[in-house]
Amino acid sequence: MMTNMFRLIVSPMARQIGKNSISSLSAVTMTSTQPQKLKGRMFSVQAALPKFPVAPLEQTLDKYLQTLRPLVSDQEFEQAKKLCEDFKNGVGPELQAKLIERAGKHTNWLSDWWRNIAYLDVREPCVINSNPGVLFPRGNFNDLEGQLNYASRLIAGLLDYKVMIDEQTLPVEHLGKSPLCMMQYYQVLSACRIPRVNKDEWVCFPPDRPDPPRHITVVYNNNFFEVPVYGSDNKPLNTSQLKGQLEHVVKQGSKQGPPLGLFTLEYRNNWANAYQNMCKDETNRRSLESIQRSIVVLCLDQPNPSSTDLRTKSGQQMLHGAGSHGHSGNRWFDKTIQFVVGQDGSCGLNYEHTTAEGPPIVQLMDHCLDYINKGSDWPAADQVTTPKMLQFNLSSDVENSLNLAKENADKLVSDLDLKVFTFEDFGKDFPKSQKVSPDSFIQNAIQLAYYRHHKRPVGTYESGSIRMFQLGRTETIRSCSSESVAFTRAMLDPAVSDGRKAELLRRAIDSHKQYTNDAISGKGIDRHFLGLALTAQEHNIELPKLFKNRNFIFSKTWRISTSQVPAKSESVMFFGPVVPDGYGFCYNPQEKCILFGVSSFKSNDKTLPAAEMSELVANSLRDMKKVLSSSVKSSL
Ligand code: COA
Repeated sequence: MMTNMFRLIVSPMARQIGKNSISSLSAVTMTSTQPQKLKGRMFSVQAALPKFPVAPLEQTLDKYLQTLRPLVSDQEFEQAKKLCEDFKNGVGPELQAKLIERAGKHTNWLSDWWRNIAYLDVREPCVINSNPGVLFPRGNFNDLEGQLNYASRLIAGLLDYKVMIDEQTLPVEHLGKSPLCMMQYYQVLSACRIPRVNKDEWVCFPPDRPDPPRHITVVYNNNFFEVPVYGSDNKPLNTSQLKGQLEHVVKQGSKQGPPLGLFTLEYRNNWANAYQNMCKDETNRRSLESIQRSIVVLCLDQPNPSSTDLRTKSGQQMLHGAGSHGHSGNRWFDKTIQFVVGQDGSCGLNYEHTTAEGPPIVQLMDHCLDYINKGSDWPAADQVTTPKMLQFNLSSDVENSLNLAKENADKLVSDLDLKVFTFEDFGKDFPKSQKVSPDSFIQNAIQLAYYRHHKRPVGTYESGSIRMFQLGRTETIRSCSSESVAFTRAMLDPAVSDGRKAELLRRAIDSHKQYTNDAISGKGIDRHFLGLALTAQEHNIELPKLFKNRNFIFSKTWRISTSQVPAKSESVMFFGPVVPDGYGFCYNPQEKCILFGVSSFKSNDKTLPAAEMSELVANSLRDMKKVLSSSVKSSL
């Protein structure tokens, strides 16, 4: 078990099963779900991708001190320097050598550790703490007919995309010129998390294994259905056949079912215990297995109550389902991809994070949204099997657990404050016109917004992709720097000229871009420190003093947790803060606007409501534009 101390060293992005169990079928319990044959263009460069390196110790320690400098006093900084020296001259080299040895034996020294620590070991609810939600552009419908038309097109788009995964013909994704690891794409359809006491299980039913999944799960009025989406000829159903399947679901599911989806918002050990109880019954076990084996979950929701802020309301629907009186019982948050289509045109998805980061999910989503608007369809498949309602027998123990799950889900959901909005004054076009990185520009706007209210810099997490490496996931971009603090302070000081503010802003942006480039090319510090700490744990070596130090922990207490998830569509992702007195910021920068999802916790009296923090971000972006524009004018 991971101790709290180890947990703090880890990024808080988070935030034996019996006979005939799912593991005994064609599921792969994850270590590394490598396709049996890496073929086709999707994996054409996979074997040539570099391995994730272990950075030189000295480099990591120097960089750590740089990131700590703006966060602590001179005296604390001197103390930190001493701790780094002691580490370098003490146990550090031994841990480093052992980590290098591990790296020699694994495709990626981090990936299995990461999956456990960031996801499967975590006992807090996945919802809000780990699973992101995504809001799509509002659908142009407001009734059941429109809902089913949209949902059937969405699933047809998904099946169209799935062909490229199954045949491994998906084009390799690139970041700049660098090709990226494509393994996450291969796993996103048909993976699922299973609750277990102390540590969850992750299963995947990859397309190249025997008996690949051929159905989706549809949830309607809390009733779960196994819905075949391929015909007897193994061809995908076309749009009108899919719509027919959904009409069956609606007809059979008119009566409200028990809100079993609430279990998936629970603390994981509570859910694991209830799950064990449920699995004592063969019917339940088969029904649960059907959900786990399905390609995706599709939730058909009833309309939302009216609201003055429809987008934020729909955002809540995607992130957590709005509680037991909303749609949370009509969900299965353990499934990797869960599409939500409401009767009132609100559409989006939620995804369980163990399998993948945002970009592969968003690329799949963009494909589906494009497909919805195309007129094309394919010929009908042969002999469609009718959807089957999944049956559950609930013992009194399970009923009691479900009552507790309902209480806990409502507490969880009611504490989250979310704001979904579009900043419309400008988009990526403005920073680009100023020859600066849009992402670094936005990150500095978030720094400024936070500083304006809280008047101090704090540890800031931005996800940077390390998929340039085989089986790479993410590295932390520490967005708070000495340069960003100098800039934010200057912005609040009326005595500083616009020219000077612009100069400091450019320096802060350059510093952020430099850190980003380092982080995505294997020169970040947070995964390296994690590796060293886990090496100590594995070899029964006492956790080095450096890692237990208050300032070390402060520097990675992510009060600002951020991520850029760009999409072609006007969709936006969002997630909860990772500490009680923190904020979550996610954004999709488009050429002429920036879509944001901002969150905070209502119960925390130190943080602002999400809408107020959103205003500060918007004002900061405007002020930064003013400063940069005026400095260009004055230099002409
Ligand atoms: N002058 C002009 N244009 C510039 C510029 C400059 N100085 N610097 C960058 N640009 C342009 C880029 O060419 C790019 O152009 P495009 O819109 O035509 O593609 C655009 O601005 C965006 O670049 P930038 O803002 O610097 O960001 P990025 O695309 O390099 O992304 C990260 C930065 C950190 C988001 C990216 O590296 C990453 O890691 N993404 C994955 C994050 C992730 O996994 N999130 C999900 C977690 S669940």
